[in-house]
Amino acid sequence: MSEAAVSRFDVGAVDEFPEGSITARTVADVEIVVIHQGGEFFALPDRCTHQRYPLHDGELLDGKIKCVHHGATFDLRTGRPTLPAVKKIQLFEAAVEDGRVVVTLHEA
Ligand code: FES
Repeated sequence: MSEAAVSRFDVGAVDEFPEGSITARTVADVEIVVIHQGGEFFALPDRCTHQRYPLHDGELLDGKIKCVHHGATFDLRTGRPTLPAVKKIQLFEAAVEDGRVVVTLHEA
């Protein structure tokens, strides 16, 4: 029985992520977006689960990110999608430590 590998990445200083921003980053060859909304940080893959277009050019709604390509939204706390996406998006843990934003990726 093997446990999932967990890797933590410093993705930048808090100041690099203004309130209301969506920022693309690549960590360990994984393209992610880091979102700062309402004083909280969120991180998720930079790929819509609908047709895998990037999300970094998306639009932030209250507690959601909207993919501009066909209009699917994803809840930032649950990953729950709205149509036309039907598959949840994966969420990564994003935390602030000593003024830095740290994202945790889980690898199966
Ligand atoms: S690729 Fe995002 S809604 Fe279609």
